[in-house]
Amino acid sequence: MAKAAPLPTVPELIALKRDGKALTATQIEHLIDGFTRGEVADYQMSALAMAIYLRSMTPAETAALTLAMRDSGDVVKLSQARGRYVDKHSTGGVGDKVSICLAPIVAACGVRVPMVSGRGLGHTGGTLDKLESIEGFSVDMSVADFVAQVDSLGCALIGQTADIAPADKRLYALRDVTGTVESIPLITASILSKKLAEGIDALVLDVKVGRGAFMKSLDDARELARSLVRVGKLAKKKVTAILTPMESPLGRTIGNALETREALEILTGGGPRDLREITFVLGAEMIRLAGLAKAEGPARAMMASVIDNGAAARKMREIIAAQGGDARVVDEPDRLPTAPTRVKVKADRAGFVHGIHALEAGMTALGLGAGRTRADQAIDPRVGIVLHKIRGDRVAEGDVLAELHVAERKGTAPAAKRLLAAYEIKPRAPKLQPLVLDTIRR
Ligand code: URA
Repeated sequence: MAKAAPLPTVPELIALKRDGKALTATQIEHLIDGFTRGEVADYQMSALAMAIYLRSMTPAETAALTLAMRDSGDVVKLSQARGRYVDKHSTGGVGDKVSICLAPIVAACGVRVPMVSGRGLGHTGGTLDKLESIEGFSVDMSVADFVAQVDSLGCALIGQTADIAPADKRLYALRDVTGTVESIPLITASILSKKLAEGIDALVLDVKVGRGAFMKSLDDARELARSLVRVGKLAKKKVTAILTPMESPLGRTIGNALETREALEILTGGGPRDLREITFVLGAEMIRLAGLAKAEGPARAMMASVIDNGAAARKMREIIAAQGGDARVVDEPDRLPTAPTRVKVKADRAGFVHGIHALEAGMTALGLGAGRTRADQAIDPRVGIVLHKIRGDRVAEGDVLAELHVAERKGTAPAAKRLLAAYEIKPRAPKLQPLVLDTIRR
């Protein structure tokens, strides 16, 4: 029998990708396995991520990378007797706190939601950082406890453990600080590796498009959506990608505790219109994929009903309590941490708000301490931005556009200036924009 050719060394594999060659599934598995076991160093993986960023990957390479990263840890087995397991994931945006309200709402409708989320990445926030602003809330759970909580409550909101797609957990942290986030194969493998490891039957993806998203154009976002749907289907999952705009921040808040508070408002029928609508669009698709409704209309009615009858808020209290958090925040949001000082940002001219540059607003919040520029940095859950004026609002000169929630006033002038510059104020009212740009199921 002919002997298999020896695998190239790790530096040779990095160089192959650097030169635009396609790697084989075996080579990719070898790299991810070595990385997971600590034999491929962080600097080598960062170099590989940059080579992938610059040279991209074929669909076959992307699929192999996703599956190798999924298999870097456990693949959770959930009891099929209890109905379908459906999750949602966003490709990342500014002010995107949808998961925090969506998960308990659809769980209250009967969907089983095993949700494994990420931390803030670049200028975008992360669900885990937001949830941790609830006192005592733990996103760390063993796989056994995760399975037990999804069984008993229908939902658990956790981070990647050492057991769930550990290769993604480490690579995600490296990409965050090495300029290698905005890559279709890397985003596909990152999102799907952890989602496929959760044991889901179906997945709804919120693919963000625009200046505050990793995909700036509709064409790139469609390509990412197709990549996600293609690899998801290859792994025999039902996957829907919904493209939504990320030109301006979602809702009225940016920053961890502020966003958690806003998401909790949705559970009791409040909250901003755009956040509520995106939650309903994504939730209705989850309910449909779970087989609990045949069409969007009845699925939306189910969501409205669990909000009205208190079941959604009750579900969130149960989840928070089960994960060690102070469940009273659902009814008493003042229990969330707040920043000691606020700095007003006032309009320097009259007109209508046409938008708030989401990347600039996200970078402003990051600079205040709401996000990280290095993987080992701590974030301040209290700080962030409250947008008092949003797209469509009329403003007079001197009106308060927004407030920075800060640890101390000193040194905040550049942040206030940056946020003011992010506001686009024009003489005439803007046209209404659609909240869904496209839906991709194949
Ligand atoms: N969300 C993820 O989980 N990974 C990415 O790479 C981008 C968004």
